[in-house]
Amino acid sequence: MSQALELGRHEFQAYKGRRKVTVVGAGNVGATCAQELARRDYADVVLVDIKEGLPQGKALDINQSGSVLGYEANVSGSNGYEETAGSDVVVVTAGLPRSPGMSRDDLVTTNENIVKSVTEAAVAASPDAIIVVVSNPLDAMCHVAKNVSRWPKERVFGMAGILDTARFSAFIAWETGASVKDVTAMVLGGHGDQMVPVVSATTVGGVPLRNLVDDDRIEAMVERTRTGGGEIVNLLGTSAWYAPGAAAAQMVDAIMLDEKRVLPCTALLEGEYGIDGLYMGVPVKVGAGGIEQIVELGLSGEEQRAFEQSADAVREVVSVLSTS
Ligand code: NAI
Ligand code: 2OP
Repeated sequence: MSQALELGRHEFQAYKGRRKVTVVGAGNVGATCAQELARRDYADVVLVDIKEGLPQGKALDINQSGSVLGYEANVSGSNGYEETAGSDVVVVTAGLPRSPGMSRDDLVTTNENIVKSVTEAAVAASPDAIIVVVSNPLDAMCHVAKNVSRWPKERVFGMAGILDTARFSAFIAWETGASVKDVTAMVLGGHGDQMVPVVSATTVGGVPLRNLVDDDRIEAMVERTRTGGGEIVNLLGTSAWYAPGAAAAQMVDAIMLDEKRVLPCTALLEGEYGIDGLYMGVPVKVGAGGIEQIVELGLSGEEQRAFEQSADAVREVVSVLSTS
């Protein structure tokens, strides 16, 4: 009998060595992402925050849920980076969220400083990790993490498209009375009010959306998707966290489990979609190496123009960054 088979489950995990995901920022999005990841049970999770007691308290609470929900992942909380050493993935959610009346872009200077310091510390502790950026303004914060880490673009990318697509898909399911599981949609571009729901690639049970819903209703859903983050800010006084936390966890799954999923993520474009040197939301194949391929959809002329307008809006925010 092999040594591994003689061991009990816990010893076997110790023998194999559990993999590790770090989530920086133990606020609404970070804690939700950590909880989602703990439930997957394929890695330990380290939550980091500058607020003393916050990551430790939330980690303890998530750990204790394991007995009810049936997972064994160890979740620890820390105010430093020692415990994060050797992480496979680092999810960056540290930073201010929006308040009513604020756009994501209003957060740029404060969050640039936070994302800069967090990235420096995280990459020093985990030099082989993959970074998933969540902090807003998302596209600009991806530039900050890339510039500070100096890692290849395949290992530094952002979460926004999965969330924006989830919102669009929900509205389509409600409009058509179909299961959200049968909606296939894709929202690309920057994570701002000029994001681009790609109607030409949207189907319900394989039937093009345009065959099912009138143009004015589609336009209303596109508009609600673009302003979907603000709709929740106006209701809650702060930004959303359940869908964002779940969306970030889906990206971590694709990396940790080498799933080769094609997901809308914020990637550094170098000529794809006619854009050079800018982080934008596009479909990418995600696996153990991070971004393994940027998938180029054939956009309609109108969609390509909207994508370029969205790129202009992202460039404007990126131009105020001081990190280079
Ligand atoms: P939150 O305020 O609940 O949590 C943020 C946490 O970051 C706080 O606990 C704070 O103490 C911590 N933090 C601040 N500076 C830090 C530092 N230097 N090191 C470690 N931790 C630090 O905010 P929430 O709702 O969790 O949002 C987090 C960020 O994610 C915001 O910038 C928000 O705009 C963004 N966001 C992005 C989404 C996307 O689709 N990309 C979706 C939802 C939120
Ligand atoms: C959202 O879209 C604010 O980016 C955040 O909910």
